[in-house]
Formats: sequence, structure tokens, C-alpha cells
Amino acid sequence: MEEIRSLVTGGAGFLGSHLVDHLIKNGHQVIALDNEVNGSWSKLSHWQDHPRLKLVNQDILELTDNDPNFKNLDYVFHLAGIECPVTSLKKPEIFMDTNIKGTVNVLQASKQSKLKKFVFASSSSVYGIPSTPTLETDVLDPTTPAGLSKMQAEEAVCHWGNIYDFPTNSLRIFNAYGPRCSSKLYPGNVFGIWMKQLQAGNEITIVGNGEHARDFVYCTDVSNAFYVAALEGKSGEAYNIGAGIAVEIKTIASMLKGKITYLKEVKDEPIKTWADISKFQFDCSWQPRIPMESGIEFSLDVINQWADMPLWSKEDLDNFFQTWFEIYS
Ligand SMILES: NC(=O)c1ccc[n+]([C@@H]2O[C@H](COP(=O)([O-])OP(=O)(O)OC[C@H]3O[C@@H](n4cnc5c(N)ncnc54)[C@H](O)[C@@H]3O)[C@@H](O)[C@H]2O)c1
Repeated sequence: MEEIRSLVTGGAGFLGSHLVDHLIKNGHQVIALDNEVNGSWSKLSHWQDHPRLKLVNQDILELTDNDPNFKNLDYVFHLAGIECPVTSLKKPEIFMDTNIKGTVNVLQASKQSKLKKFVFASSSSVYGIPSTPTLETDVLDPTTPAGLSKMQAEEAVCHWGNIYDFPTNSLRIFNAYGPRCSSKLYPGNVFGIWMKQLQAGNEITIVGNGEHARDFVYCTDVSNAFYVAALEGKSGEAYNIGAGIAVEIKTIASMLKGKITYLKEVKDEPIKTWADISKFQFDCSWQPRIPMESGIEFSLDVINQWADMPLWSKEDLDNFFQTWFEIYS
């Protein structure tokens, strides 16, 4: 059987490690590349010494056009990136560097292969404050440097694909959650923050009154979306990846059964995110399969995974959001 060779940037991260699982299970030869700035190779420890998995410590900002790991590939899945609206207001340069220049570096190195597909991890933050349910054709109007950097990276992906003749897709991920989601660098993933707070026996922090709603999509549904996009996505397209349902934050918090403490409301944030996923469902054989109740149960089953993660207290988060209040008062 012909060998399929895939490279996953951000492979030591939350979603990248789930994608590596998916590719290994489907027989691919996989190179996982990461600098562990926000991830950890421990997320892939269950594949230790696997003959079809190579781990590469690499900063994408240091990547050269002739990097040997990018030769003879069939697929590149580019998930290395950073995502946190508040941090991006504090330190926009890192977001522009990592998400735009880093993406260009990965595209440049990918030119060495005759790729069957380049799939990029974009974000719902490209929409800014969206109307809901949000369609891919809706206006892109990011309200933070994080969103802007993803929007410009999407454009670079399309542009390189057109000029250098390889097929591409960008997946606009809404709120992914599940085992292994965590942040060392910043409090970027709300579900990861809550799991750590629960694991440490602390109260769960909710911003505002909990009536904001988010489209939470389970991690394996996202990794499966990357796989299916690679095989079936129409080249040049951006696709929304969510569960297609908006759930209020207080509902999710009550499913976690922890005590809740409330933080000051953050203004100029979407009240609701809700992906219209019909375009991806139409073009590709994909459905979000894991309902929220099951995703939360699977995560609580492995709550000890969060033991070594940083704990964000109510006071830490109050301080953290101060930047937002200074800009969007
Ligand atoms: N999780 C979500 O809900 C969500 C939503 C929208 C978009 N995304 C995007 O999906 C991708 C994966 O997200 P995730 O939740 O798994 O985050 P993550 O932080 O767990 O994974 C990203 C990985 O990229 C690595 N990385 C960052 N900068 C790097 C660099 N310069 N060189 C090499 N590696 C680097 C990090 O170490 C980390 O392991 C990211 O690009 C993110 O912006 C995620």
C-alpha cells in the first residue's frame, strides 16, 4: 500500500495532538512539529517510539524554505499558532509574527512537496462580533490582533496555494474543548481554565452573568474535520467548524457541577458565537458527533490531566482582563 506522509505543525498542542492520533490510526506516516511554547510532547506520550511518528522540536519562525522535514509530503496540517484575544491586545507583535510570518514560513517550506492539501487552523475570531448563525460569506471584521492575524494568514494560505499550485483549506474553528486542552502561555481556552479550577478544588470563574453563548465543539470532531477537509474539501475554501449549536456559558458551568464565581462583564465581545456548519457538511462527509454532555463526561473522566497545568485564579483573571477594560471601556 502506498505510504501517506503528513506533517502537523502544533503537533504538541491540544488539537494538533488529537489530529496526530487520527492520522496515526489511519495509517499515515506523521511528522509532528512544535516548539512547546504552549504545548507539550507529553500529549503524545501514548505513541512513544511509534515507528510512524517523528517528533521535531522546531520554532516555525526559524523555519527555512528547504527544511528537510517538508520534503515528499502529501499533506500539511498547519495548527501551530496562538489564540487569545486579550493577550493579543497586550502583545500584538507576537500574534502577527507567529500567525502571519509563521504561516508564510510553513507555506514556503511546503513548496518543496507536491501537496495534495494544505489545511490551516483559522478561527471564528476572523468574524469579530458576528451575526448568528454565522456563515462563511459573512463579513470578516476582527476586533483584535488575534483575529486580524488569522484573517491575514488565511489570505496568505489561499494566495500561496494559487501561485504555487497546491490545494488549500482554512478551517475557522469556534470553541474547541476536551481532554488535553490547556494553556501555559495565557488563559486562552475557557474550558481548560475551568478544568484546572475544578481539578484544584477551586470555584469556576464566569465572565459576566453567564448568559453569553458559545459554539463548543469537541476535540475529536475538530481533528476529524481536518482529516476530512484534507480528503474532500474544495480547494481555496474556508469552512466553519463548530457544533452548530450555541450553549450558554452558565449551562456548561452547571454541567461541570462546580461552584461558580463571577467576574466583571467584558464589553465588545460577541454575546453569542454560533457556527453555520452547513457548507462543510455539504462539501464533506462530516458531522459533529459528540454531544456536549458526553464531551464533558469524557473530560471529567481524565481530570487529573490538568494536575500540572497553571491555575488561573479569580484575581489573576481580573488583572488579566484589565487590558480589555482599558481599551474597550
Ligand atoms: N482551540 C480552539 O478553540 C481554537 C479556536 C480557534 C482557532 N484555533 C487554532 O487552532 C490551532 C490549534 O489550537 P490549540 O487549541 O490546539 O492550541 P495549542 O496552543 O494547544 O496548540 C498550538 C501549538 O502551536 C505551538 N506553537 C505556537 N507557536 C509556535 C511556534 N512559533 N513554532 C512552533 N510551534 C508553535 C504551541 O506550542 C502549541 O503546541 C491554533 O492555531 C489556534 O489558533 C483553536
